[in-house]
Amino acid sequence: MKRMLSGIKPTGQLTLGNYIGALRNFVNYQDDYEMYVFIANLHCVTVYQEPADLKKNLRDAVALYLAAGLDPEKSTIFLQSDVMEQAQLGWLLACNSYMGELNRMTQFKDHVAKGETNLTAGLYVYPCLMAADILAYNADYVPVGVDQKQHVELTRDIAIRFNNKYGDTFTVPEPLTQKVGAKIMSLSDPSKKMSKSDLTNKGCIYLLDEPKAAMKKIMSAKTDSLANVAYDKENQPGLANLIEIACALTGEPIEEFTNRFKGCGYGDLKKEVAADVGNFLTDLQERYDGIVRSDLLRDTLENGRQKAEPIARKTLHKVQRKIGVEIFR
Ligand code: TRP
Repeated sequence: MKRMLSGIKPTGQLTLGNYIGALRNFVNYQDDYEMYVFIANLHCVTVYQEPADLKKNLRDAVALYLAAGLDPEKSTIFLQSDVMEQAQLGWLLACNSYMGELNRMTQFKDHVAKGETNLTAGLYVYPCLMAADILAYNADYVPVGVDQKQHVELTRDIAIRFNNKYGDTFTVPEPLTQKVGAKIMSLSDPSKKMSKSDLTNKGCIYLLDEPKAAMKKIMSAKTDSLANVAYDKENQPGLANLIEIACALTGEPIEEFTNRFKGCGYGDLKKEVAADVGNFLTDLQERYDGIVRSDLLRDTLENGRQKAEPIARKTLHKVQRKIGVEIFR
């Protein structure tokens, strides 16, 4: 079985966009791949997080992944900082990456372009730690959003360069990005991605939103004035976004859904999307509530750590031997 690995960076509450773009796919992948999913808490702190908020967001992320159907019996689920070998490998990879490469990373450049002051050194070497996350486990595939693809490409470059320099060491991973539903857009501005840092709060549905409040957000989603139900991402991006949301949640093909609403008003369509979202959130949150009240979170992360750690340790020692930093092991 091929190995797949992905990290989630919960610097805020997880959104419906995260569910449709990532969580949902992980749940499907776990039957066909050996899945490693970890919470990238060390990446979260490359930008300051209020400690109490961070802790809550980390815990909620694990609980929501489990509630969404990630199965600790099938997948290895763990916390990045619990496997210290990962961070240590990150250091060694930082010593095998060039500033020129890191300067080209668009995520870093975006922070610089926004004129943010006091950018941390951690933010700059972020991609080296991410490369370590992936290479420590010799992952074959890394499912990521488009915004993270460049980091996986850098990981490939680092792996190939290391293999050439020190002899075959790392599996060179492939990024996996998906097409439909890969990017759920903001409900208030469909030209932007649905983002957990949405300040107006109207464009974004959080997985822990009160279902009624989420339904209201759907009802007031921005559409267009063409008054014609069609799936046209270019000219009717708001409507297309709503159609994608509904179809992602129910599994109905886009074409079928669109045909069903041909000639109807947008209000009718929105009512159905709102109902789909409401039902989905109600079910998900019921499972979430049960999970946070049980020992499942703690047990899952402890079992995950026990499975992940020996793998990362083996890779780390191999790397250290090759580089020449070890003496007696
Ligand atoms: N950087 C990723 C994000 O912001 C999270 C992440 C950290 C990750 N390490 C990873 C994703 C390794 C895939 C593989 O979403």
